[in-house]
Amino acid sequence: MTDPALGAEALRERAVASLITARDRTTLLTGCVDGPELTAQHSPLMSPLVWDLAHIGNQEEQWLLRAVAGHEAIRPEIDTLYDAFEHPRAERPALPLLPPEEARRYAADVRGRALDVLEGAAFHGTRLTEAGFAFGMIAQHEQQHDETMLITHQLRKGPRALTAPDPEPAPLFTGPSDVLVPGGPFTMGTSDEPWALDNERPAHRREVPPFRIDTTPVTNAAYQAFIEDGGYDEPRWWTTEGWAHVRRNSLTAPLFWRRDGRQWLRRRFGVTEVVPSDEPVLHVCWYEADAYARWAGRRLPTEAEWEKAARYDPAGDRSMRYPWGDADPGPEHANLGQRHLRPAPAGSCPAGESPLGVRQLIGDVWEWTASDFLPYPGFRAFPYREYSEVFFGPEYKVLRGGSFAVDPVACRGTFRNWDLPVRRQIFSGFRTARSEEV
Ligand code: AVJ
Ligand code: FE
Repeated sequence: MTDPALGAEALRERAVASLITARDRTTLLTGCVDGPELTAQHSPLMSPLVWDLAHIGNQEEQWLLRAVAGHEAIRPEIDTLYDAFEHPRAERPALPLLPPEEARRYAADVRGRALDVLEGAAFHGTRLTEAGFAFGMIAQHEQQHDETMLITHQLRKGPRALTAPDPEPAPLFTGPSDVLVPGGPFTMGTSDEPWALDNERPAHRREVPPFRIDTTPVTNAAYQAFIEDGGYDEPRWWTTEGWAHVRRNSLTAPLFWRRDGRQWLRRRFGVTEVVPSDEPVLHVCWYEADAYARWAGRRLPTEAEWEKAARYDPAGDRSMRYPWGDADPGPEHANLGQRHLRPAPAGSCPAGESPLGVRQLIGDVWEWTASDFLPYPGFRAFPYREYSEVFFGPEYKVLRGGSFAVDPVACRGTFRNWDLPVRRQIFSGFRTARSEEV
């Protein structure tokens, strides 16, 4: 979000609102369970919630109070505790972390001072403050951790702690199953979106041969057909590493699924339900997405194909900010912001479709792409190497589009997420593609 056309005062208001929205979410996610649940580690993949809380405050202190405003450290001794690179997630519960009340007070103290800084900050002059970048970056950082904390909630055992209304039911989608994206160059990435992060920059031209891409994400019903057809028992659908991973870990279905006679059940935020057939499949790893696509006679889209499908407007021969145009996301366009705790049925949000008729590219589920996480030509790490640069390489696969758990401030047509191909506790799904013979 954040229109390049906004003036400094509009950006300042946007920054205040984005920081407040993020903190409201953080407060809810850390306030709906009691103290012992905040300090417990619910999965070795995740931090205790109380770590995320103080880490959010610590990042805000480092960037908005120290880097932008030149303040002294409030508690220099805690920096190392909340440095994600010093302590892998599995170690975090054993650290002398700030207890919940202290973590809350620290984050609130930082926030009060950051809002004072924001009020008087010049939105030009340095790259960090240009167009309010640092404030936008910190709002996005907190929202990214709000998604991380929601993942922790999903992994946590015990009764439901969070509730949200379900998305509107949708009539069964009866449109075409895929669309043709014409071949030719398009502009990938951005140089003028004010709060775009370093890995989304700079804008550059990419040649993309013609391809077809699914109109909606792959549904649970379609994925169940792959399971019922013996997909997890057939090495020919899997890459060598994927097959080794499936065997070693005895994978037979997406994470949180359990067979019950002839149907599949799954656990979502403490509640067990029958797997809904028309929802995009969720909690699959890259290897599963890749194997499904091969079984279906297709493949995952490359990252460039995904972005062209999401941003290219053939009529204007240009890249837009979102599939529906340049307007910031509203509820009619996309299922974002944890308004719902699940993806909307496939075919939802017709107002959010691309000019070529592709739906749900933004929101609902993160979509695995075929591509490794690599820098764009002309990439420069900013403002710190540990956001993107240290992750570039073949170990990480790119995910695009954002899930129901992502806030609009941290989601756009150019936004890049990445994870290891084995990960599936994240809100990940996919759609498939195929090359168009010319
Ligand atoms: C972009 C989601 C991969 O959570 O590891 C949060 C975001 N970076 N704090 C992550 C992030 C630093 C990052 N991802
Ligand atoms: Fe972080």
